[in-house]
Amino acid sequence: MEDKRKIFFDRHAENWDCHLTHHNLARVVEEAEIEKGAIICDVGTGTGVLVPLLHRKVGKKGKIIAIDYSSEMIKKAKEKYGKLPVEFIVADIHRTDFPDNYFDYVICNACFPHFENKKMALKEIYRILKKEGIIVISHPTGKEFVNKLHKETGGCIKRDRVPPGIVLARTLKEFKFTPLKVIDEPEFYLVSAVKS
Ligand SMILES: C[S@@+](CC[C@H](N)C(=O)[O-])C[C@H]1O[C@@H](n2cnc3c(N)ncnc32)[C@H](O)[C@@H]1O
Repeated sequence: MEDKRKIFFDRHAENWDCHLTHHNLARVVEEAEIEKGAIICDVGTGTGVLVPLLHRKVGKKGKIIAIDYSSEMIKKAKEKYGKLPVEFIVADIHRTDFPDNYFDYVICNACFPHFENKKMALKEIYRILKKEGIIVISHPTGKEFVNKLHKETGGCIKRDRVPPGIVLARTLKEFKFTPLKVIDEPEFYLVSAVKS
């Protein structure tokens, strides 16, 4: 059965950027501690807001693959950043075609609460990360803002919630990750963990 959220994101892709705030995006990239030359998967890239920042960080020797299950979002991201050396792929993080142990970082910025099956998505992220690879789950506006927005927006996203940082860190441990950072401030949220 198709995830109703995908239709929601397809429908909103055209005007998505009108509602976006770029608040704290640079901090996401800083706190992720991305190294030059890294291979990164930007999950749920949307219109690609993180792409130029990630590109600057990894440099010419790095590689960025930006995925989204909404083909309309990927279309928008390509319109904006198609000239950068970045691969844009329509793909669902629950089941991808990437090889095992491929990425140094998998970044889920402002998309984790929307994953229909968190267990399946986390298992897939674990599979595609290299050993010592890092998962980053971030919300640059903080969890309260996001949770309120989803509730007020209603429809298929009304119950999509960002959990408290310590709860997410515990969940990541259950999936064999070792938590690195838990930042759960009123206006910034980032949890990272390493595949051990
Ligand atoms: C709130 S937007 C955030 C977009 C972007 N990361 C940003 O920070 O602006 C969430 C995005 O996640 C995507 N998404 C949700 N579930 C997904 C999944 N299972 N696989 C891939 N993309 C997904 C949606 O299509 C949407 O573009």
